[in-house]
Amino acid sequence: MGEFVVRGGRRLAGAVRINGAKNAALPIMAASLLSKRPVIVRDVPEIRDVSVMVEVLRALGVKVEREGSTVVIDAALIKECRVPDALMQEMRASVFVMGPLLARLGRTEIVHPGGCAIGDRPIDLHLKGFEALGAEVRDELQGTVVLANRLVGAEIHLAFPSVGATENLIMAAALAEGETRIRNAAMEPEVVDLAQFLSRMGVTVRGAGTPEIRVVGCPELGAADHTVIPDRIETATFALAVASAGGAVRLLNCVPDHLPGLWQQLRDLGVEVKCEGDQVAITAAHAYAPHSVTVNTGPYPGFATDIQAQFMAFLLKVPGIHLVSERVFENRLGHVTEFRRLGAHIIADQRLAVVYGGQHLYGASVSAKDLRAGAALVVAGLQIEGSTRIAHREIIERGYHDLDGRLRSLGADIISA
Ligand code: UD1
Repeated sequence: MGEFVVRGGRRLAGAVRINGAKNAALPIMAASLLSKRPVIVRDVPEIRDVSVMVEVLRALGVKVEREGSTVVIDAALIKECRVPDALMQEMRASVFVMGPLLARLGRTEIVHPGGCAIGDRPIDLHLKGFEALGAEVRDELQGTVVLANRLVGAEIHLAFPSVGATENLIMAAALAEGETRIRNAAMEPEVVDLAQFLSRMGVTVRGAGTPEIRVVGCPELGAADHTVIPDRIETATFALAVASAGGAVRLLNCVPDHLPGLWQQLRDLGVEVKCEGDQVAITAAHAYAPHSVTVNTGPYPGFATDIQAQFMAFLLKVPGIHLVSERVFENRLGHVTEFRRLGAHIIADQRLAVVYGGQHLYGASVSAKDLRAGAALVVAGLQIEGSTRIAHREIIERGYHDLDGRLRSLGADIISA
């Protein structure tokens, strides 16, 4: 177990390149199982979650080569239909292999998936969708078993626009007979990227990025060469780090349109944001005028739940009473307890936080409870002049490659210990 030690109060300056999106790379790597031909995936972030996905694919008997941010996957032969329990428990995104395995082998098995501690995170919507495509779901002692002699296109209405369920069902539908319509589908850019990857392999996917997606199954998929979209959550994390510390930083390789709402919210508070092509220039003062901010997370294009914690960390600096409402996950305010250790005044229940911004904060020892909560503690630490020690750095490194090194290159005082 390692920690990050942040000594804040230093302005950030320079430029930083945003990596490929974790949440696009993981389902795309899983989707490679659908083709017997090799696929190349580029700009895959060099993070722990990707290493786990590589281990998952290898455990299934698939050949995977990884060099830097390029991954080559050859799933001509798949030897297993069950993800080893330890890997499934280590990373919830392992659930993405279910759709492709079901489609390729007619069988997939898992124990209950692990992942971040942010609520129950069931997979009932994934399973109901598989059933709609003709699969049988069995709850057995060793976990959940899903079986299908053949998958047939169907109409599926998702009770909630779950990102993972939408992606798993698009993947299962890719090898199904006929057309599948997914209604109330997730519209996240990562869903669109997966659809683009599948299109490159020969699947017809229409409507990705809208609430209704149509997939026309294809008996056999081809090879593909795909570059993953830039990580919008990493983009937001760096932008909020600058807003928190103050300074002038240019974010390179991003898609500003993938963060609807965020830029305007920052501008309203006095942060200068210039979006130019695939770059965003952020200039932030050291102090903020009083404001009261309301944030409600929601499915895309709503405010991303994955940046709620980092945004709250930034709001600690803005004088005023702020309301943060988490509407996607039922238990995603774990960072509030840690912020309080830094002197923050926040009243919260499981889903709603009232944040009294502009209080004096001080350095203390805190702990990364989940990936984004951990990143939020770094964002908070950058505005505190004392020393903030963040335990469980490895949880942050599941989703960010070299976060400390990249912040140091911008002038931050952060070390890993
Ligand atoms: C993905 C992202 C995660 C992000 C989340 C919401 C990846 C690898 N992870 O997670 O970073 O925070 O989208 O933007 O892409 N739900 C059910 N039943 C299901 C599935 C989901 O009730 O079968 C509920 C969940 O408990 C949660 C909500 O739906 O409350 C959203 O979950 P979902 O969109 O599925 O998130 P993930 O795909 O797990």
